[in-house]
Amino acid sequence: MNNTIMSNTMQEKILVLDFGGQYNQLIARRVREQHVYAEIKPYNKISVAQIKEAGYKGVIFTGGPNSVYDENSPHYDPAILDAGIPVLGICYGAQLMAWMAGGTVSSADNSSEYGKTQVTAAENTLFAGVPRESICWMSHTDFIQTPPVGFRVIAHTDKCPCAAMCDEGRRLYAVQFHPEVTHTVYGRQMLHNFLFVVCGCCGDWKMEDFVEQTIAKYRTELADKKVLLALSGGVDSAVAAVLLHRAVGSNLTCVFVDHGLLRKDEGDFVERTFREKFAMNLIRVNAAERFLSKLAGVTEPEKKRKIIGEEFIRVFEDEAKKLGKINALAQGTIYPDVIESGKGDSAVIKSHHNVGGLPDVVDFDEIVEPLRELFKDEVREVGTRLGIPHDLVWRQPFPGPGLAVRVIGEITEDKLALLREADAIFCEEVAQAGLEKVANQYFAVLTGLKSVGVMGDAGTYGYTIALRAVTTDDFMTAEWTRLPYEVLERASSRITNEVPGVSRVVYDITGKPPATVEWE
Ligand code: XMP
Repeated sequence: MNNTIMSNTMQEKILVLDFGGQYNQLIARRVREQHVYAEIKPYNKISVAQIKEAGYKGVIFTGGPNSVYDENSPHYDPAILDAGIPVLGICYGAQLMAWMAGGTVSSADNSSEYGKTQVTAAENTLFAGVPRESICWMSHTDFIQTPPVGFRVIAHTDKCPCAAMCDEGRRLYAVQFHPEVTHTVYGRQMLHNFLFVVCGCCGDWKMEDFVEQTIAKYRTELADKKVLLALSGGVDSAVAAVLLHRAVGSNLTCVFVDHGLLRKDEGDFVERTFREKFAMNLIRVNAAERFLSKLAGVTEPEKKRKIIGEEFIRVFEDEAKKLGKINALAQGTIYPDVIESGKGDSAVIKSHHNVGGLPDVVDFDEIVEPLRELFKDEVREVGTRLGIPHDLVWRQPFPGPGLAVRVIGEITEDKLALLREADAIFCEEVAQAGLEKVANQYFAVLTGLKSVGVMGDAGTYGYTIALRAVTTDDFMTAEWTRLPYEVLERASSRITNEVPGVSRVVYDITGKPPATVEWE
């Protein structure tokens, strides 16, 4: 996670040796969940001597997309198996351990297993507390055909003769399945056994340590440097800002571009929080006019997004220029952003995307991403520990283009004002009913549709507001939230009564797919 932790020899830690698997961060996260610090290193960036010197309590070989017999596959120095440090190999890491120790790995089309698979285990330390038969998550074609001398098979499946093996004397364990994914029902127990029984960890690491160590690291690394951060009002950039502010104080400048497409009171809330509560150098750029004039008459969703993205960069660039030399550009990139963009260098592409191409227009020496290895809930925990208000830490996601993608068709100030009111009412009603965490995102949309209504004795002809609430883990797919009728009724009644110009309210009951979460 960071180098400061490397140099802290008192703290117990586990090395996740990365062979290119898609779950490597998840493994580290599962270890951290058990209060043991884990750090990830690419297999070719750390030697056995360095591993010994750093005092790791154990090493986990991750999975990877390769086959051990390919010449170009990632391999590792077999001396690690005799270094006296416990090793757990997972999937490719298991096959690699077998191959390194002189066993054989085979491949057969009919031996591949994918998905939930029943595994039968023999008694052993890794499986202590795990039923003899349990469901594990498999994803492999190659398999360990013959375990190396000194190893015994400790689990198998119908297709896989060696679903797990160990050399208890040398404290070497290997599993063909993925204990880190939740589909492996007893995966947590197995990792617990590895960490606490095999490696002898005591589990005294806390998220507070991450906070303190990250602050200490940046205090040294960024001493006397000017740091610039684009604050969006969302949780990730907020947490990154507060963390870095604790490290570099007034050397951090945050630029908050208010494009006039924010929700009700949002701009003021962000300004108050960062300027008053945290006493940060905050530049709020009130650029509503600039954005709205560019958006005038534009109805096509993609065009709106493009205009906003480009204008955002221009505004930020203008502000950055006024500040003179910037040494570091800070970003609130979190691990899911990194995964979405693929691995390695491509992560930077998403970082550009996240802040709308800022690295291209700001002259700086380095990018600082303090949250790059954390998952969203870990970021929220860090935010809470830093004293960031609950409302901000638990803020629902809000798209960069803001209300522009929730006013269908042309955007005008009047329409934005109307939508802000309707949205605020809906959000209040969801919160009032205690459903803020049931729906992961909920908002109002101003459809372009007008319809006939009646109020008192008079006919009306007003806008149709659509309410949308979704329940989702990852926003890649989503279900529409089954909000109670009473909540919908109160929201509908209040919106039609309290927001002039609205004659009808509808509820969006479409999942994703086929619909997206946002309407544009
Ligand atoms: P969709 O509409 O793609 O939304 O199903 C999935 C999630 O992404 C958010 N979203 C955006 N976030 N910039 C962002 O930062 C955008 O352009 C953008 N478009 C959609 C959306 O609010 C939902 O949480």
